[in-house]
Amino acid sequence: MGKKIVILNGSPRKNGNTSALVRSFTDGAESAGNTVAEFHLGSMDIHGCKGCFGGHSDRECPCVQKDDMVEIYPAVKECDVVVLASPLYYWNMSGQLRTAVDRLFYCSESRMAGKLAASVVSCRRGGASAAFDRLNKYFTICNMHIVGSQYWNQVHGFTPDDVRKDGEGLQTMRTLAKNMAWLLKNIDEGRKQGISAPIYEERIHTHFI
Ligand SMILES: Cc1cc2nc3c(=O)[nH]c(=O)nc-3n(C[C@H](O)[C@H](O)[C@H](O)COP(=O)(O)O)c2cc1C
Repeated sequence: MGKKIVILNGSPRKNGNTSALVRSFTDGAESAGNTVAEFHLGSMDIHGCKGCFGGHSDRECPCVQKDDMVEIYPAVKECDVVVLASPLYYWNMSGQLRTAVDRLFYCSESRMAGKLAASVVSCRRGGASAAFDRLNKYFTICNMHIVGSQYWNQVHGFTPDDVRKDGEGLQTMRTLAKNMAWLLKNIDEGRKQGISAPIYEERIHTHFI
């Protein structure tokens, strides 16, 4: 059965370069039978984390702020794969994506554990690796499994047409989608054979004091 992939697209430009790269990944994912739900963060009303430590009461929408994140929390909870997509803004993800992921990932271990994940970035020229590494850190703090490709997941260009000419970048996205589909099938097969997810220990919080 097809799996659910959620993409958070952090570009403020709905038909920009990041969308061109997401298109290539989505084509690959859908042709493998999976469904993709993409959120364009630039057209959503999402505010920065208040650092209030006040969430957790509502497991569906675990944040005190009830803005458009209320659409994202349940979609992510139901999905099998989370993809973070961003244009490069000064060697980093866009502010739109940063705002959303700080809220999405805070205290999210139990909601995120076991899901597959990938980050993809779109840049004109420099800093892709730094942003890619930084995005992947969100996944590795909550028992998610990063899927690889044949290169780091980046495309280059100043316009969407440039991106569509970046043959290697787009191939990297298609390969990422194929690897993801293959892993999802293997996880399903494993479940059928009774291979269950690890049972994690309760987290130890050590504050170095
Ligand atoms: C504020 C700002 C900062 C940027 N910083 C970088 C950068 O550090 N490295 C880079 O290669 N491109 C940078 N760019 C270019 C964009 O990352 C690049 O054009 C990207 O593909 C745009 O994607 P989009 O059309 O989805 O917004 C920057 C663009 C803006 C507007």
